Amino acid sequence: MPEEDLKDNSTFQKTAVELIEAALAARGSAYAPYSGYQVGAALLTGSGRIYRGCNIENASFGATNCAERTAFFKAVSEGEENFLAIAISGGLQDKLPMEYAYPCGICRQVMKEFAGDDFQIIIAKGVNEYKVYTLADMLPFGFGGGSIQ
Ligand code: THU
Repeated sequence: MPEEDLKDNSTFQKTAVELIEAALAARGSAYAPYSGYQVGAALLTGSGRIYRGCNIENASFGATNCAERTAFFKAVSEGEENFLAIAISGGLQDKLPMEYAYPCGICRQVMKEFAGDDFQIIIAKGVNEYKVYTLADMLPFGFGGGSIQ
């Protein structure tokens, strides 16, 4: 999906729904035996591919990986460099998402590493209930590669 198309509203809504469906499906693979909180993410690249991710917990809690970072790391490891949008959906196991699942600070920082200020972040309870932010909305005054040049 070319970047210009994302700015067209009806096309964006269609893309958003596709990404939300993928995030909800990815949530089904969450490995969350400790928190019981399952998160799914679907990341759209400039090449038009969608990478899914889920949270993957660990008995050593600090080794847990969030859904968003799983999606980013899968994509980056496959050579992707251009990122347009991510959909995120989370909630307690075996229930539909009841609240909006906003990305944690570490995931926002990972987005900052690989995506631009206008990267679209779709936070969804379902295909008919979602909010859209940019990375600049979610991480103002961020620290990135440009900060250390
Ligand atoms: N989690 C995510 O997958 N993404 C976030 O942005 C916030 C938190 C996961 C980590 C852990 O498995 C569970 O949600 C509860 O914190």
